[in-house]
Amino acid sequence: MSTPYRIHCLVPDLPTPEAVLPFLEEMHENRWYSNFGPLVKRFEAELTAFLGRENGAEGCHVATFSSATTAMELALKAMKLPAGANVLVPAVTFPATALVAMNAGLTPVLADVDLESWELTPDIARAALAQGEYAAVIPVAAFGRPVDPAPWVAFQKETGVPVILDVAAALGQQDIHKDLTYCFSLHATKPFGVGEGGLLVSSDEAMITLSRSLSNFGFQGPAGVVLEAGTNAKFPEYFASVGLVQIARWYEVSERRQAVLDKYLTGLKKAGNSIVLQQGTGDFIPAVFPIYMPGKAEKLVARMDAAGIQTRRWYLPPLYDHPALGHLPYADKTSDMPFAGCEKLRTGLVGLPFHAFLSDEDIKEICDIVAGVYV
Ligand SMILES: Cc1ncc(COP(=O)(O)O)c(C=O)c1O
Repeated sequence: MSTPYRIHCLVPDLPTPEAVLPFLEEMHENRWYSNFGPLVKRFEAELTAFLGRENGAEGCHVATFSSATTAMELALKAMKLPAGANVLVPAVTFPATALVAMNAGLTPVLADVDLESWELTPDIARAALAQGEYAAVIPVAAFGRPVDPAPWVAFQKETGVPVILDVAAALGQQDIHKDLTYCFSLHATKPFGVGEGGLLVSSDEAMITLSRSLSNFGFQGPAGVVLEAGTNAKFPEYFASVGLVQIARWYEVSERRQAVLDKYLTGLKKAGNSIVLQQGTGDFIPAVFPIYMPGKAEKLVARMDAAGIQTRRWYLPPLYDHPALGHLPYADKTSDMPFAGCEKLRTGLVGLPFHAFLSDEDIKEICDIVAGVYV
């Protein structure tokens, strides 16, 4: 990796070519490379079992796509929401959360996030519904922090507004409830990375079947006719090959990440109460590792840069400051500070290096720099 940094923020932990080779040989033997081939079918079946075992998924269907972005976009289309309808999204998230709604012909409406979880919560969504009409809500598992499904199941029941969870970075960590729809990413930078890819998980078989058909131009049934205009967002056999190995090595990948997290939690004690971690950190392994040091983000980034350590300001700026998204409506129309939470977070959120290849010395050096920012 040729960059000016000694310590990188994110290093993918993917299978070796040797481990993938038997699957590639099988693919070559089959002469079947895309279009819902045998390896994709096996990967989907193994993922269904994995999600049942690890995350309590019962009665759910799993479909693969070319990315989380295409998966979410096609799920929104398959949900048949009224054209142009409002969809509530947090303003601090990866831009894809809003882009998928726009690409599906809907209007993303930006909501504030909670200062403890750094997420769009059911309470924020309820306040938004009191001021406007929404066809769907897309809460986000921010930085891979798993979303508690129960309050969203209750929200959906009480309001009748469907909830589709953008849990892109939380595969393996995110509990599955059959009443909600989940979208995961398999991008190389995710803890469960295969290269590129996305998953939809839902008990709504008709929605999954239509989304899958839309990923194949909208062909439906044996006649091979386009019933509804789709696109090409299929998941190829090559990535399914990597995915089948990744499932088998999930425990070792997770153990390495847990060990790094534990060392950080010990090392950061030196910084005392001055740094804030995302609510619940330690009960889950995050995908990336932002810490919150109110007012100190720029100073911390400069010090890390000077030491050759890469940091990332994930999810910033907030969506309303992106030139292509600045026109989007706000959920909170009454307050003169509709994004008080986002604005506070932007002064202090900094993603520290977080991957399996950090040494004890790397982590100590990073924690010492963090602790020194207040000195
Ligand atoms: C919250 C969130 N949503 C969506 C995506 C998009 O995922 P993909 O790259 O698989 O399209 C990402 C990717 O980083 C993400 O972090």
